[in-house]
Amino acid sequence: MVVLRGITKRFPAVLANDQVDLDLHPGEVHALLGENGAGKSTLMKILYGFYSADCGEIKLQGDPVHIHSPHDARRLGIGMVFQTFTLIPAMTVAENAALYLPDLPPVVDTRRVAKQISSLGEKYGIQVSHRFPVRDLPIGDQQKVEILKLLVGRARVLIFDEATRVLAPHEIEGLFDIFERLKGDGYAIVFITHKMREVLACADRITVMRRGRIAGTLTRSEATESALVALMFGDAIPQEATSAPLPPAAPGSALLALRSVNTRPQGASTPLRDVCLEISQGEIVGVAGVSGNGQRELVDVILGLLPCAAGKRLLHGEDATSWSAGQIRASGVGFVPEDPLGMAVVPWMTLSQNAALGDVAAYARRGGLSLGWDRVRQDIVTSFAALEFEPLSLYAPVRTFSGGQLQRAVLARELGRRPRLLVASYPTRGLDVRSAAAARRVLVQLRNSGGGVLLVSEDLDELFSLSDRLVVLRRGRIVGAFRPGEVDRHEIGHLMTDSEVGE
Ligand SMILES: Nc1ncnc2c1ncn2[C@@H]1O[C@H](COP(=O)(O)OP(=O)(O)OP(=O)(O)O)[C@@H](O)[C@H]1O
Ligand SMILES: [Mg+2]
Repeated sequence: MVVLRGITKRFPAVLANDQVDLDLHPGEVHALLGENGAGKSTLMKILYGFYSADCGEIKLQGDPVHIHSPHDARRLGIGMVFQTFTLIPAMTVAENAALYLPDLPPVVDTRRVAKQISSLGEKYGIQVSHRFPVRDLPIGDQQKVEILKLLVGRARVLIFDEATRVLAPHEIEGLFDIFERLKGDGYAIVFITHKMREVLACADRITVMRRGRIAGTLTRSEATESALVALMFGDAIPQEATSAPLPPAAPGSALLALRSVNTRPQGASTPLRDVCLEISQGEIVGVAGVSGNGQRELVDVILGLLPCAAGKRLLHGEDATSWSAGQIRASGVGFVPEDPLGMAVVPWMTLSQNAALGDVAAYARRGGLSLGWDRVRQDIVTSFAALEFEPLSLYAPVRTFSGGQLQRAVLARELGRRPRLLVASYPTRGLDVRSAAAARRVLVQLRNSGGGVLLVSEDLDELFSLSDRLVVLRRGRIVGAFRPGEVDRHEIGHLMTDSEVGE
């Protein structure tokens, strides 16, 4: 269906694609794997017309095509779900889908589009609420809108760049079911992910990229996890994050206490109900739950972005219910948000400028008239080294980073501040296997040196291997609190989804 030959793309600092050949067949899921910065997104953005290749050729059904823009690509039936969200937050689901139509009419019949969304949603089991602007939808639902948008746009080649990154386990299975159905209809699917388990579950063929080149292509039957990891990293096989058991935590005094916190309902958000939570020094508290069950609200309340309608927030033993986000951050609270590009950085600023943000007071010189840039740079470089991340250009705008590189930058900045309390939402999302392992190690180091961590994750393996205590959030309530040894993931999974149990 699609043939890519000799695709080459150079950015100022890096050869992102180097003579890449790739074939996509109808009725097949083709997984694209590779470490952060390997060139996966760039290659797919070239097929989607977002970038143009310096050289190389693209054929569609045997005919050479020239794709100069995403509009060209959509007309040719090529659709892409990007790694970062591309929805317009103030618009509804139908409006967003309408914008994506290859033949957008001067007057859009959003009701017709909404109907299409409903029927496609029903056919493929993708339910989202139509009425609200997209900004009010939980992030998992926003991802579903991205997928629906493609289907409404009648794409035949579907590119999913880490589409499962924000989905809950059962939603991922749902997505793979959708893949199966689409395969049956002759769609060609490209699926980029960092999760081996997902690759092995859904891919028919797997191509591994490494430093801009194709390291190898395997069929599903040839592929094993170790073969794929070896192709991804060459000889340097990443160390298993969970191999060493954690030393038992000796929790110190409470860093954070939420006392019967309630929040006001807003749009489609899930208000918190009577949430009581404590995090002490030397403790990682994991939050399990299906996305959209109050995780964002919980994090926002801790960070001072959402007021407590009732209840109290205590930080470091003081009543911090009325503290501003700035005061809370200044008190030593670090933050890794679920949407780093939207919430943790200014995309047009360089890495060092972004590294200074959020800690400007600490870097200020001459009463705030200038900044100590040497120290900013030193700190971020040191932090990258501590995480064993490959250094990134300090002078590149962060919007030019790959998804994983951006996540690394945010982690490095936040961990580099040595926060007393770190609120980490999906901290390893988008990281390749090796960087994810490094990030987990550093979270444990932070805890061992007396820091506290709130770890929000949908990855039960990650939660079980890192958490000293686990709480389960469902519909804005904490419906269970455990030590990881006391429960199995089955019970947790049950609590996450089953409305009858635990209440
Ligand atoms: N617009 C751009 N300007 C400059 N450099 C870029 C741009 N886009 C990507 N790059 C660089 O090209 C390289 C490949 O990036 P790409 O996004 O394709 O990686 P990736 O394989 O998708 O990684 P990840 O797993 O982190 O998403 C990276 O080093 C990145 O910094
Ligand atoms: Mg990418």
